[in-house]
Amino acid sequence: MNSIADSSQLLEHCIQQTSVPGRPVDYRGKVRDIYYLDPNRMAIVATDRISAFDHIFNEPIPFKGQLLNQLAWYGFRRIEDICTHHVLEVPHPNVTIARKCHPLPVEVVVRGYLTGHAWRVYKEGGRLLCGQSLPEGMRQHEAFPNPIITPSTKAHEGHDEDISEDEIIARGLVSGERWTEIREIAIRLFRRGWNVAHEKGLILVDTKYEFGLSDDELVLIDEVHTADSSRYFYADGYEERLEKGKSQKQLSKEFLREWLIESGHHATLDQKLPVLPDDLRISIYNRYRELYEKLTGETFIPVSTKEFNRWLGDLLAK
Ligand SMILES: Nc1ncnc2c1ncn2[C@@H]1O[C@H](COP(=O)(O)OP(=O)(O)OP(=O)(O)O)[C@@H](O)[C@H]1O
Ligand SMILES: [Mg+2]
Repeated sequence: MNSIADSSQLLEHCIQQTSVPGRPVDYRGKVRDIYYLDPNRMAIVATDRISAFDHIFNEPIPFKGQLLNQLAWYGFRRIEDICTHHVLEVPHPNVTIARKCHPLPVEVVVRGYLTGHAWRVYKEGGRLLCGQSLPEGMRQHEAFPNPIITPSTKAHEGHDEDISEDEIIARGLVSGERWTEIREIAIRLFRRGWNVAHEKGLILVDTKYEFGLSDDELVLIDEVHTADSSRYFYADGYEERLEKGKSQKQLSKEFLREWLIESGHHATLDQKLPVLPDDLRISIYNRYRELYEKLTGETFIPVSTKEFNRWLGDLLAK
């Protein structure tokens, strides 16, 4: 595996989907291709696909998979004292060998700030989000007095939907006892993620956790505190921008969502997917890389993906 020295080759280095002759993928998510290795282990390949508003775009983002997978691994290592996580091994920058769990059917969204979906609800006059009441008189991007949990259902198809904590228990998606454990852990994870970011001059704004069960043990699965699952702002100048009602620089997938909304594509997304221009793809790559480098304090060294399918075939044949 050679590192990429020349950034002009970036767009040639994308994994839109994996393919191994004679070995179909077991599950293809919006971003990840999953191969089951045995009843207890799975190989999760973070591809370079990008999705927004539940649509997967046809143009991948160079090295997004490596950036995400490695950022998740960085994040998981920082929460090990709070919760068991699913990572067994990271044998390649795009790949995590994980403990196969039974995913719980809720996404545990934790919000420290009035941003994104929460702001859209608030702006329209809504003061209740997922059963949580929101304080009066808040500004966009302002911090909540304490982080709030605004879960959503994990829909197999279509959009995830907001759900209240009471509803999760009433519908039997998760038992009351288990939910108490989850909410306590989720808040601790968020505070940890916030502290890790804060040390690096960033603000963890909000994030989404997924949990699974393995032999009745609660396990943090999927990814943690990455650019796909979280929003980050720069800490420097945050207060000033807030006071002046200015927007905050987004170091996350929000950048793509903003592009879609501003270019008017958001409204037509269900009929026609826009082609992501090359310069936008490179800008998104740069945002992901910037977050990776800021958080980890390390320079990102991309690894060529030209031989990736062969590498994967060898892994799966073992
Ligand atoms: N350790 C694990 N055990 C079982 N399932 C897992 C584990 N880690 C992640 N998953 C599941 O693997 C999938 C990861 O793929 P990806 O992130 O691309 O999916 P997604 O598009 O976000 O979600 P979905 O495919 O559910 O719509 C998710 O469905 C996630 O719940
Ligand atoms: Mg996912």
